[in-house]
Amino acid sequence: MIIGFGTVGKGFFDLFHEKRAVVQSLGSVEISEIASSRLGYELRPAHDTAERVDKGGKLREEAKDIPETIRRSDADIVCEFTTVNMNNGEPAFSHIRAALESGKHVITTNKGPIALRYRELQSLVAKKGVLLKFKGTVMAGTPSYNILDLLPGLEVKMVRGILNGTSNFILSEVERGRSFEESLVHAQRLGYAEADPTMDIDGYDAALKAIIISNVLGWQDERHSLGGMEISGIRNISPAAGEKTKLLASINEKSASVKSTKLQDGDLLSNVDGVLNALELETDTLGRITSIGPGAGRKQTAQAALTDLVSIVGPLPNNR
Ligand SMILES: NC(=O)c1ccc[n+]([C@@H]2O[C@H](COP(=O)([O-])OP(=O)(O)OC[C@H]3O[C@@H](n4cnc5c(N)ncnc54)[C@H](OP(=O)(O)O)[C@@H]3O)[C@@H](O)[C@H]2O)c1
Repeated sequence: MIIGFGTVGKGFFDLFHEKRAVVQSLGSVEISEIASSRLGYELRPAHDTAERVDKGGKLREEAKDIPETIRRSDADIVCEFTTVNMNNGEPAFSHIRAALESGKHVITTNKGPIALRYRELQSLVAKKGVLLKFKGTVMAGTPSYNILDLLPGLEVKMVRGILNGTSNFILSEVERGRSFEESLVHAQRLGYAEADPTMDIDGYDAALKAIIISNVLGWQDERHSLGGMEISGIRNISPAAGEKTKLLASINEKSASVKSTKLQDGDLLSNVDGVLNALELETDTLGRITSIGPGAGRKQTAQAALTDLVSIVGPLPNNR
């Protein structure tokens, strides 16, 4: 069941049908229904549903009370792709809670509930014996914290990340000599920045991702919360900040921060430009490992949800 049929919901719907071989190898997995506040509700959607909605169409029926629709559904997995809310994680939190309470696994790309209300959700997960997957909340489909699934026993000492593509793009433009304002307008024209860019340029989007990584690593205290960590964005940054200045998330067991930081030449992260994201893990057995790739986009984020789907229903033969 898909909840929220915007960029990511439609992207996942299309990727699910495009990657037929992968999906078929999972057994009888189907998208049984879609519910989205304005677009409506559709049971057993046809393969061209995302295309129809892209062209301005709606789903077949009116959407009713969505948490209740989730509870009553026969679906085994609920994919939650609604709009992020960094105050209380709603409405996604209520959707996810309804799914978990009714014994359904959850896949979400929504940072709100995972960053802000992780403990409540984890206790439901433990009580109900279901899975909650949220790969798309950090670096879209690009491997990030989920690399840890391949590395049994490995201990993470420290994490550094470039976790917000919009601010990284703006910083790259400023480095090329544009003003902050010009760079922001350019990013908005290219669709990389929202009309209200606050979440991105003031560091909150990266901070939510830093909290999610902290949650995964078990570093869950006040120092890893929005109120307890240092967050400063890139608003009005000028070329005087110097080359190779990045909006860097730094996380360890004792602290977390998101702030613009001038990196040394030779630092791998200093070469991560434009909308790319990166995550570097300092580990006990492997030293430093780094993943670089896209952190947003319709198909890129849909990949994360497909990865999560396989991790719930899979594994795939020969690891494909
Ligand atoms: N886009 C990306 O590249 C990306 C990358 C990583 C993570 N994410 C996260 O993934 C989530 C979805 O992003 P998106 O880009 O797909 O956003 P979007 O295009 O704005 O779509 C959000 C969808 O949520 C639906 N919605 C909002 N409130 C709802 C409610 N109360 N009940 C049911 N549906 C509701 C909207 O439905 P209606 O249209 O029917 O009103 C809309 O279709 C967000 O949390 C975002 O932060 C996005």
